[in-house]
Amino acid sequence: ELKENTIIIVLGASGDLAKKKTYPALFGLYSQRLLPRDIKIVGYARTKMDPEEYHKRITSYIKNPDDKPEVKQKIEEFKAISTYVSGAYDTDEAFEGLNGHLDEIERKYQTKERNRIFYLALPPSVFIPVTEHLKRNCYVLRGGVNRIIIEKPFGKDLESCRQLIGAVKQNWTEDETFRIDHYLGKEMVKNMLVLRFANVSMGAAWDKNHISNVQITFKEPFGTEGRGGYFDEFGIIRDILQNHLLQVLSVLTMERPVSFSAEDIRDEKVKVLRAIPPVERSDTLLGQYVGADGKPGYLDDETVPRDSVCPTFAATTLWINNPRWEGVPFILKAGKALNEAKVEIRIQFKDVTSGIFKDISRNELVIRIQPSEAVYLKLNAKTPGLYTRAVPVDMDLTYKRRFGEVHIPEAYEALILDALKGDHSNFVRDDELDVAWKIFTPILHWIEGRSGPRPRPVEYPYGSRGPAELTSFVAKYGFRRSEES
Ligand code: BG6
Repeated sequence: ELKENTIIIVLGASGDLAKKKTYPALFGLYSQRLLPRDIKIVGYARTKMDPEEYHKRITSYIKNPDDKPEVKQKIEEFKAISTYVSGAYDTDEAFEGLNGHLDEIERKYQTKERNRIFYLALPPSVFIPVTEHLKRNCYVLRGGVNRIIIEKPFGKDLESCRQLIGAVKQNWTEDETFRIDHYLGKEMVKNMLVLRFANVSMGAAWDKNHISNVQITFKEPFGTEGRGGYFDEFGIIRDILQNHLLQVLSVLTMERPVSFSAEDIRDEKVKVLRAIPPVERSDTLLGQYVGADGKPGYLDDETVPRDSVCPTFAATTLWINNPRWEGVPFILKAGKALNEAKVEIRIQFKDVTSGIFKDISRNELVIRIQPSEAVYLKLNAKTPGLYTRAVPVDMDLTYKRRFGEVHIPEAYEALILDALKGDHSNFVRDDELDVAWKIFTPILHWIEGRSGPRPRPVEYPYGSRGPAELTSFVAKYGFRRSEES
């Protein structure tokens, strides 16, 4: 349930994440009347801004293409509940200032309860001092809840992650901490629980006896474009695979949780992740995009070092050593500057065992996470007519067609609302992070040259499907291309 008398404090309010994701999501929730009635939003950052500048900034990503008066009206209301405080990230004085502002807002509430939700949209360098200062200077001791919502990067490897998590734990309990992986807020990722556990037919074929291989794919049609400073330090594995795609993998492969409770779900996710050994070099393909058709290469980005060997594309195959999945390859692949924007799960089933049909397509179940949410199943059916011949057909559940123009919530909307309700189901628990880093740390250290020369990624042109080697890479794990896949 939602608590009245809540303030959401966005730290890093002048940054990119706040502008592009946090505020639009808060506005989305506000305009659908999903936030507590008397909600207040306070922005905090170093930049000095007057209220007008702040309001302009936080509404710059809110869409109102048809200039609808009712949306305009809501934007005005949203501005009216939003205030801003500027201050440093490392002094008591600054945070006392923030606390004074919050106290003032709360004094106007008629009841005693005070709830503060701190959303940290901050660079990693100030992350730990901010969690300390918030606890020391802005924490409500009696009559309310305090929560922090935090975002990746959660460290750079197992060791640094443990340090970071440990430092945050000094001040914030697990119950008060909400670690975002925004892929867990996506509609089709949430749908996995229903597809898998509300359908007997799906559950029956969900194992190594029926499934040949699984691909989880992330494709983006743009490069780093000015974000190279951050990206070059992290690379595509930390940016996408180790968190977003691994989270998708865990909900796809976990055993059925005892209940829908956050702890039961996360217990199962951790269990399946623990059965995955660290990624092997031989199961890895790395790529970096080069300029093509007037588009710049990765090394042309001015924020990237000239000689960088940072991968902007990676395919890694993971194996789950448990009775359900032993021997099934799970190929996680992600790339920047590819030919399209698409995130999907493709489950390829085995060949039919009977000899009566030759050269027919395999069954495939595709769950398209974005764009245009869909689930479709590739089957073989008889061609109409007097002869018996099998042809591949699709059973197609495209959400727009089936459910019409319903509003599918943005991931950040869903997650912020969950955090306000205190529901941890779609947030990452500390032990999940630990095991996720165990899987990827050795390969990351190898890529960074800790055990010898740094491996060179293969080149692929901006706007292509990825490295040419990808076709043989996926074939090696038994993937057989069917029509349109
Ligand atoms: C972020 C990555 O976590 O996810 C970005 O840092 C990436 O590099 C983004 O672009 C993708 O998110 P979405 O929701 O657009 O698929």
